[in-house]
Amino acid sequence: MHARVVAATAAAVLGVAVLLSPASDARAGDVGEITVIAHRGASAYAPENTLASIDKAAQLGFSWVENDVQRTKDGELVVIHDDSLPRTTNVEQVFPGRAPWKVKDFTAAEIARLDAGSWYSPAYAGTRVPTLKDYMCQIEHNHEKLLLEIKNPELYPGIEQQTLKMLDNQGWLDQKHLERLVVQSFSAGSIRTVHELKPAVTTAYLGAPDVAELHQYARFTDLINPSYGSLSKAYVSAVHSFEGPHGKPLRVFAWTVNDAPTAHKVAGYDVDGMITNKPDVVRAALGSD
Ligand code: G3P
Ligand code: CA
Repeated sequence: MHARVVAATAAAVLGVAVLLSPASDARAGDVGEITVIAHRGASAYAPENTLASIDKAAQLGFSWVENDVQRTKDGELVVIHDDSLPRTTNVEQVFPGRAPWKVKDFTAAEIARLDAGSWYSPAYAGTRVPTLKDYMCQIEHNHEKLLLEIKNPELYPGIEQQTLKMLDNQGWLDQKHLERLVVQSFSAGSIRTVHELKPAVTTAYLGAPDVAELHQYARFTDLINPSYGSLSKAYVSAVHSFEGPHGKPLRVFAWTVNDAPTAHKVAGYDVDGMITNKPDVVRAALGSD
C-alpha cells in the first residue's frame, strides 16, 4: 500500500482528518497528503463551470475547485471550458444565425441570456454562464480555493494581465487569498507571463514536459499538472527533484481521475493532487484502500 494511501486509511480509521498541507482546512477534501480538486466544479453532479457546480463541491466537502476562464467580445471574463458555446448552452436556439457561436464573438449580455444548465439536466434549467467576477464572489462565499485555468490564451491577448487585475480588484492577491489560489494553463508562455506580472501567485503548467526541460519550467511554475495517462512514478519523482520559483519542490496535480482503480494507481505515483469530476469517488477510494 502506498504511503499516502496508508496515511489516508489511518485517518479514516481514527476518524480524524490528516491535514498536512498548509492550505488545508477541515473541509479541504484532502486525503492524506493528496489534494482533491473538483474539476470544473463537481462536474459529474452539476453542470460544469457554473455556480451550481462549485456549490455542489462545497456540499460534498471539497474546497478546491478548478475552472476555465475565457473572454467575451466586449471584454468580460467568463467561466466556460469550450471556445464555443453550443455544447454547454442553448446558444443555437437563442442565436440561430450566429454559427460557429464562439465565446469571443458574443457580448457578456448575450451570454448572460443563455441557459447553461438544461444540457446537463432539466433540474438545472436557467443556470447561467458565470462571469469570473460572480464566480469569485461565490468562491469567497463558499470559502473555497481555486485552480483557475486561463483557457485558450492565444485567442485573448492580455488575458493574463486582465485576470490578475480582476483578482486584485476582488481582493484575491493578498497573502491570505494567495494560499487559496493557483493559476494554470496549457500555455507555458501564459504561465510565464502570470509569474512575471505577479511573482507571488502560485502557478501550474498543464502538461508533461520532458525531464530534460523541467529546469526551465521551474523558473516560472510551481506545479506540473499532467494527464494521469502520461505519468509514472519516476516522472513524478523527477518533477519533485526541482525547486520552483518559490523555493519549494515542484508539485504534481494529475487529471482527470474519475474512478477508484485509477485513483489507487495514480496515488502510487506519489502525486500531490488529483483533479476529478467525482471528488467523492476519489476520496472514498483513497480513504478505503
Ligand atoms: O485541470 C486540468 C484540466 O482541466 C485540463 O483539461 O480540457 O478539462 O481544461 P480541460
Ligand atoms: Ca480546465
